[in-house]
Amino acid sequence: MPTLGFLKKKRTKDSTGSRDLDSPTSPVKDAHSPITPTLTKSTTGGSFSFNQSKSSATQESTAASHSTQASTAPSKTVDSMNPSAYPQQAYATPQASPEPYQPSSHNVPSIQNMIHPTNAQEQNKAANGGVVQQPAQPVPATPRVTKGKYTLPDFQIQRTLGTGSFGRVHLVQSKHNQRFYAIKVLKKAQVVKMKQVEHTNDERRMLQQVKHPFLITLWGTFQDSKNLYMVMDFVEGGELFSLLRKSQRFPNPVAKFYAAEVTLALDYLHAQNIIYRDLKPENLLLDRHGHLKITDFGFAKEVPDITWTLCGTPDYLAPEVVASKGYNKSVDWWSLGILIFEMLCGFTPFWDGGSPMKIYENILKGRVKYPPYIHPDAQDLLQKLITPDLTKRLGNLHGGSKDVMNHPWFAEVTWERLQKKDIDAPYVPPVRAGVGDASQFDKYPEETEAYGQTGDDPYVKFFTNLKHQLT
Ligand SMILES: Nc1ncnc2c1ncn2[C@@H]1O[C@H](COP(=O)(O)OP(=O)(O)OP(=O)(O)O)[C@@H](O)[C@H]1O
Ligand SMILES: [Mg+2]
Repeated sequence: MPTLGFLKKKRTKDSTGSRDLDSPTSPVKDAHSPITPTLTKSTTGGSFSFNQSKSSATQESTAASHSTQASTAPSKTVDSMNPSAYPQQAYATPQASPEPYQPSSHNVPSIQNMIHPTNAQEQNKAANGGVVQQPAQPVPATPRVTKGKYTLPDFQIQRTLGTGSFGRVHLVQSKHNQRFYAIKVLKKAQVVKMKQVEHTNDERRMLQQVKHPFLITLWGTFQDSKNLYMVMDFVEGGELFSLLRKSQRFPNPVAKFYAAEVTLALDYLHAQNIIYRDLKPENLLLDRHGHLKITDFGFAKEVPDITWTLCGTPDYLAPEVVASKGYNKSVDWWSLGILIFEMLCGFTPFWDGGSPMKIYENILKGRVKYPPYIHPDAQDLLQKLITPDLTKRLGNLHGGSKDVMNHPWFAEVTWERLQKKDIDAPYVPPVRAGVGDASQFDKYPEETEAYGQTGDDPYVKFFTNLKHQLT
């Protein structure tokens, strides 16, 4: 039976549990250097042509160095990735470029270190009769014990980084180690009113269970009489959404890079029977090196087989969700298709003047117009992801997520290296790392109601699994 759900509006706005030194309440390691030295990659191959393969430490410097990068890299591709080259704009209007696919112009085949597999992989491929063996499935993490460790007075609350359907996310600074984190604050009244208690409790539970390079780290949760609080790593580079709107659309290799990181994350989640259900550029954050972190587990749920809840964001909903049918993990592969389409085109395939009803009609009709500039391999993958026929949808077939990873569009991706973040990102956000630089995030009006209130809590029975900060 379909469950009463919740649909989000699409916005048109203009370390792990064991690495305790990263924990918000860990002692100060070096008061003068909040920056954790990051690894220098052992890049044996080349890199994205529009990104220098220098050490992360130098990349994460200033906006000034960003503009230097832009001026030294090949102009066409760099321009399209350089946010300053485009005016800030609201939702892009769908515009199909008249020119057909030209491998030498828009879609520069330039991911050298994705293209050349290592010798080991070549040998592995030969030994497997030509089939590239995929990285071993990461061992499912045992749930991290995050409950009850933190309280509001542990943090100094700073500006809002983003707002969502039930609350907002703040930049905060730990009073213990001076490091910066993000705290998602959910208003209990709103959560209960919108019937999202179960989803909110799931959000915490799912986040506690996962541990993956491309998924946000949750450090802990607590509550007061009005709000729920979730302490996460602060991902400094801003939303992929902002980068995409500023860039209009991404070149083929750039879209491929982000899509590949998302694919690894989905592969991991699905191996644990977790459906994510809210894939969209707003929930994909860029870390200081330009790698993705998926945030917002508000709709993530452990589903071994089938579920019915109507939830997600209109443009990204699979037809079986729109039609209130039972659905499974494959809705995430449909959404991956929508995401890749949006990255390549700058608009979603079923977008229609902003009316959700019209979008749903289009989703059910299922007709997608592929602009001529889309790479033929990309189009082939999209046709196999954005298909209502569940017996044909890639990711939902016998090979599971491996079928997606083995698709020709991803042929040059060396998945093992990607998983290790051993492939340079196409765009390094111009942020000063480790100092609470929120310049990549839009500004929002701040909350006026004080946090940490101790009065009556009419919602106490709904969130019993969360430690109350004053108990
Ligand atoms: N760990 C983080 N670091 C930096 N910014 C973050 C982090 N988590 C979330 N944000 C920002 O806050 C925004 C809202 O967070 P989130 O998506 O979790 O809230 P939500 O209420 O579920 O949103 P929505 O209903 O719009 O999907 C994100 O889109 C992002 O811009
Ligand atoms: Mg969100």
